[in-house]
Amino acid sequence: MNVSRRALMVGAGAAAWGFALPLRRSFAEPEIKEYRLTAKQAVVNMTGDGHPDTAVWAYDGTVPGPELRVRQGDPLRLVVNNKLGEDTTVHWHGIRLPNAMDGVPGLTQKPIRPGESFSYEFTPPDAGTFWYHSHADTLQQIGRGLAGALIVEEREPVAVDRDLLWFIEDWRLDETGQITLGSFGNRMEAGMSGRIGNTVTVNGRVPNRVSVKAGERVRLRIVNAALARIVSLRFEGHRPVVVGRDGQPCEPYMSEGGRLVLGPAMRADLIIDMDGKPGRSYRVIDDFYQDLAYKLVDLVYAPGKPSREHSPDVPARLPANPLPEPDLTAAERHEIALQGGMMGGMGMGGMGMMGRTGRGGMMGGTGTSGGMMGGMGMMGMGGAVWAMNGMSMTGDGQPNMPPILTLRKGQSCVLALRNETAWWHPMHLHGHSFRVISKAGKPNPLREWRDTVLVPPRETVEIAFVADNPGNWMFHCHVTDHQEAGMMSVIRIA
Ligand code: C2O
Ligand code: CU
Repeated sequence: MNVSRRALMVGAGAAAWGFALPLRRSFAEPEIKEYRLTAKQAVVNMTGDGHPDTAVWAYDGTVPGPELRVRQGDPLRLVVNNKLGEDTTVHWHGIRLPNAMDGVPGLTQKPIRPGESFSYEFTPPDAGTFWYHSHADTLQQIGRGLAGALIVEEREPVAVDRDLLWFIEDWRLDETGQITLGSFGNRMEAGMSGRIGNTVTVNGRVPNRVSVKAGERVRLRIVNAALARIVSLRFEGHRPVVVGRDGQPCEPYMSEGGRLVLGPAMRADLIIDMDGKPGRSYRVIDDFYQDLAYKLVDLVYAPGKPSREHSPDVPARLPANPLPEPDLTAAERHEIALQGGMMGGMGMGGMGMMGRTGRGGMMGGTGTSGGMMGGMGMMGMGGAVWAMNGMSMTGDGQPNMPPILTLRKGQSCVLALRNETAWWHPMHLHGHSFRVISKAGKPNPLREWRDTVLVPPRETVEIAFVADNPGNWMFHCHVTDHQEAGMMSVIRIA
């Protein structure tokens, strides 16, 4: 049964996307599944009939890139071909993989030059909802479309009627439907909320409706692939159960106040029993930013009898992944302060004097905290706006980045992330998943696993993990212009 199901999926993938190549067979080694992705310029329609097309940079010409569906434990080879006019790399966000496959230019590999390709090879240990994106010239390359979903399927399929993906992206389009390029890397914006756009797409389209059937149970995977936009989703008339965060299963729960908050790079797996009325429609609203609520999509019920009398009795939950459990009694504790940015539109908070770093530079911190500068003065320097423990590294990754922390392999570790700024920061650790153990000084009862945690302004969040994966791992804010403007660091596991 598994065999036919897999064969069917490969066939369907090939037909829909044209990226799945015939499998290579070798009798000595496990079968490696190979996929090819080409990063290139393309033109797509995001806004619908009668609206202009948009020039993008995209994997295989689609926005988002092809939905890669693989199976937990299957060895993969992902061959990335660069047909852009500049260097690129691909980061497999959330996958616990060998450091050399992590896709950080300079730090873990040489960038892929135009006309060249690179083979990423790894075996995803965890099932779940992951994604992939460029990690070179990241603000522009993600901002122009270089991102897609990477779904690792459970060995045993979860009992749902349908498995849906909402890949959320945020664009800044002008009246002619083109991405406004001039504003990439605006320092003023980088010191505040980051580049928030004016057009939100789901699976590459400004959506208006998602068709559903009364009685069905849907697994909905949501990826926030925006550069900077945080979303807070409210499902009118429905009670979604959260069963996974950032690809990792969690104790099923209903989100607080029915809202699901996802910062950039964060994902959620939901189980939704479609128990609305046939023929009716229900809104899904994003109301994260005050006074800027909008309808993301309508859930539109088909007319006719529900397919079930009432929702299935089987509880909705995902099978566990093989994650190493941190030992809190033996854990090393470290504090990481998130610093800088604009405060109330003027001045920089908590940062010392720093020299010009320019694109791709790095600065050791001078440690003089509270050195306020006129906001414009700092902006004008074209360098760092943010820091972590007084150190700013800018850009996308470079060779010889000094680690903010060095951990011994196998060490359990608690990081207290203290946000001293006036802004939200979704902090992402490469190559590991961590438990969120406390928020604002209170234990977090859910203790969910994540790879990206949203740290609210002036709050502290504690995370715990086992440093079991050796290498130099990026730890950075996933508001892309925060990362590029200094909120980036490296944790070394030796
Ligand atoms: Cu998805 Cu370094 O990030
Ligand atoms: Cu940030």
